[in-house]
Amino acid sequence: MLSTHVRRVSGLCITLISFRDTATGKVITTVCAGAAKDVDLAVEAATKAYKTSWGLKVPGSTRGQMITKLANLIEQNSDELAALECMNVGKPFTSTKAEIANSIALFRYFGGWADKIHGKTIETTEKKMAYTRHEPFGVVACVIPWNSPFYMLSFKLGPALATGNAVVLKPSEITPLTALKFAGLLNEAGFPPGVVNIVNGYGNTVGDALSHHPLIRKIAFTGSTLTGRKILEASAKSNLKVVSLELGGKSPNIIFDDADIEQAVKWSASGIFNNMGQTCVAGSRIFVQEGIYDAFMKGLAAYAENMVNKCGDPFSSGTVHGPQISENQFKRVMGFIDSGKADGATVLTGGDRIGSEGFYVKPTIFTQVKPDMKIVREEIFGPVASVIKFKTEEEAIEMGNDTSYGLACGVFSQNTSRCIRVAHALEAGTAWVNCYRWLDYAIPFGGYKQSGIGRELGEYALELYTQVKAVHVNVGQVL
Ligand SMILES: *[C@@H]1O[C@H](CO)[C@@H](O)[C@H](O)[C@H]1NC(C)=O
Ligand SMILES: *[C@@H]1O[C@H](CO)[C@@H](O)[C@H](O)[C@H]1NC(C)=O
Repeated sequence: MLSTHVRRVSGLCITLISFRDTATGKVITTVCAGAAKDVDLAVEAATKAYKTSWGLKVPGSTRGQMITKLANLIEQNSDELAALECMNVGKPFTSTKAEIANSIALFRYFGGWADKIHGKTIETTEKKMAYTRHEPFGVVACVIPWNSPFYMLSFKLGPALATGNAVVLKPSEITPLTALKFAGLLNEAGFPPGVVNIVNGYGNTVGDALSHHPLIRKIAFTGSTLTGRKILEASAKSNLKVVSLELGGKSPNIIFDDADIEQAVKWSASGIFNNMGQTCVAGSRIFVQEGIYDAFMKGLAAYAENMVNKCGDPFSSGTVHGPQISENQFKRVMGFIDSGKADGATVLTGGDRIGSEGFYVKPTIFTQVKPDMKIVREEIFGPVASVIKFKTEEEAIEMGNDTSYGLACGVFSQNTSRCIRVAHALEAGTAWVNCYRWLDYAIPFGGYKQSGIGRELGEYALELYTQVKAVHVNVGQVL
């Protein structure tokens, strides 16, 4: 376990987790996995910090300055952070560099909010003064995934710290390296000891202890719908902690006849294939109107095939396609591809691994898919698109909504009223019009349906990390 004073607290070291460089297969380091006891120590440190030297005791402007200083330190260390992330996750260095840059911007943005958090006064009668305060929860737990580890860390810690909470952070057991480097930067930025505590380890030990812990008042999680459900159950069975969830997706991306083909191909391809498809917003169900179908598919297949040529060492500047994160994920994705073939879908391109070693998968496009196929219904989290041809707008909306998820959607058309109508009809927390997978720290992000609860990013994220107190003041009412 690491607190803001980088140190191991409990002396426990029960499991060693090895990290393999996903490109070469070499073990790059080992890290100790924490246990429930470490979570107790982290919560104790966070509680003490919150009560003595954090929360609303520290003016928002001071918290904001610390967050800004942290952003500057991340910037100074961005090459090292990007290299660690590249090695650990296997995504191209150019992408990890861009994600670190986005994280820096995100911290600066939330540093700016720290002194702009306020409630309202509410007029009732002249005998009463009533106002609201947006207070931090105290100790919050943040549990982040492995697909974009540092960026996801910033999604949580930016608003959690801006609003004055103390945090216990659990990185994914397979991608803790940038979070551990970050722990040292927190010290340099001047955060009091215990304000941020990082506990490594597995979901069934550390994650389980966090989600049941009676002194954690709120838990923010990004990851699978299955784990999100477990966290909600744990909250129900323990202290009813507030839960926010950003979960899986099976997002529809709809291309109409009147779309700009070249742009639609590029955005759609990057929407499903970027980060090796390991992204919750992946536009994995692509609906293409019949008039544009042949031309669009030709472009999409060419794009996918060209990515195979730009596959290789994640550190090379020409690499755009890296390996899947791990052998497990690689096998899972290949399993989905096999199920698509077995169910009778047509492989337009891809459908196989790249080479004979490493965890590389060819960007894959299935056509002739049926709505009940596993590849159409389940989140694959790999570079695999299912394409469905459609005739009418109504049909596309109907099929687009036919999923238990609701994280994102895309619409491509040069007809503005159609774009807006379809974006509004689709059941999703994010609708991209003539673009895809283009997030911004100032714009709220979260899911409809089984894709999540709550909104991260933007001003909305301040609500996620605060609770409202209503204060009633008697100004002369006599009983
Ligand atoms: C946009 O689409 C609608 C039908 O949905 C159509 O009536 C309208 O003429 C279209 N506008 C343009 C500029 O093509
Ligand atoms: C989305 O489609 C579903 C059917 O798949 C339908 O029940 C729902 O009303 C649609 N939502 C909107 C907003 O049109």
